[in-house]
Amino acid sequence: MTDDPVIQALLGALTAEPDNHAVRAHVARLLLDAGRPDEALDQATTVLAAVPDHVDALRVASAAARAVGDDAKAVSYGRLADALSPPPASAPPAPIRASAVPDTADEILQQWADEEAVTEPPVGPTGVTLADIGGLAEVKKRLELSFLAPLRNPELSLRFGKSLRGGLLLWGPPGCGKTLIARALAGELGANFYEIGLNDVLDMWIGSSERNLHAIFDTARRNRPCVLFFDEMDALGQKRSNLRGGGSSLRGVVNQMLAELDGASTNNEGVFVLAASNHPWDIDTALLRPGRFDRSVLVLPPDAEAREAILRFHLRGRPTERLDLGKIAKATDGMSGADLALICEQATENALDETMASGRHSPITQRHLQEAARSVRPSIGEWMETARNYALYGNDAGAYDELAAYLKKRRR
Ligand SMILES: Nc1ncnc2c1ncn2[C@@H]1O[C@H](COP(=O)(O)OP(=O)(O)O)[C@@H](O)[C@H]1O
Ligand SMILES: [Mg+2]
Repeated sequence: MTDDPVIQALLGALTAEPDNHAVRAHVARLLLDAGRPDEALDQATTVLAAVPDHVDALRVASAAARAVGDDAKAVSYGRLADALSPPPASAPPAPIRASAVPDTADEILQQWADEEAVTEPPVGPTGVTLADIGGLAEVKKRLELSFLAPLRNPELSLRFGKSLRGGLLLWGPPGCGKTLIARALAGELGANFYEIGLNDVLDMWIGSSERNLHAIFDTARRNRPCVLFFDEMDALGQKRSNLRGGGSSLRGVVNQMLAELDGASTNNEGVFVLAASNHPWDIDTALLRPGRFDRSVLVLPPDAEAREAILRFHLRGRPTERLDLGKIAKATDGMSGADLALICEQATENALDETMASGRHSPITQRHLQEAARSVRPSIGEWMETARNYALYGNDAGAYDELAAYLKKRRR
């Protein structure tokens, strides 16, 4: 099937975050518009199974049911949507990012779900700092040099003739800490950090996208020096050649992004742009040219030492017996930070179950962790396969050298 790249990108995002109902409802709408009512109905009913009063999903389900000839269903979905659809709400207050940092995918998704579309980017410290991130010493060092030092001391940087602008792309397999690192930068910088997440991107897809993007950059310029962080950059900065046809509004967004980054009519001094992506090969290459996102940092899966730090981080404040986390770290080669977080969750749950069953308090033990580690499947295998192909066959400009070196080292 010749698949719409936007739909494909969103379906990809959904395999990583199956509970993101906002995204799923949007995909359902796109599928319906693309003349694929069967799949649209599937997606919409999946949303409704979790959120039975999701009005958007109900509307899509209704139209899709009609398209596949199920009029009875179409009517009942439609009726429910009409009953639920509230009068237009008054404008919500500007979103303020919660100061608690989410550390599970669910919490992040919850936070996204709670967020309103931005016209002004959300501002505010996140509470995590770089010290909370396990491993990734090299990445932290580069961020310290390219963002934090100049931002902490702009006068000094200027005196040394260092430009206070530029873009940097964090890329690598999912669940290895890109978003977390960006949030940690926010924690280090306080108010000078603006995050544009997947929901905000979706809003740009749905309409008034170029204006929104311009407003975001404008706010950043008024509040410089600052960092503007675009998460899920592959979704926002899709190759324009992928976007031909289908009436995609994303082409305009990419063009606007280029204009904003170049700052031909504006001055971007003091505005650092940070982006994160699991699929840099899907990003329009024009966005990666000099003066735009011209530096990139590969965020690789954690090594043993980093895995130990990540395990420790996710077990903090929980009742444990004496643990040999080094051993668990050794046994979890190839796991992402998110996989390790899941292991800790599962071990905790098992300990809780035992406590409930026996009525006696049982802390998290080495055995709980070992069992959890065995039951969690590493989530980045597929990413590595795709990435390997790009490193081997798509590495013309040497963009994937660092990845190629990593893959080679691992193969031994
Ligand atoms: N280096 C790390 N240190 C601590 N926790 C981590 C690390 N990397 C990943 N995690 C855990 O995995 C979760 C997902 O990481 P995230 O930053 O969202 O990954 P990405 O953005 O690269 O897909 C985090 O919320 C955190 O719980
Ligand atoms: Mg992320």
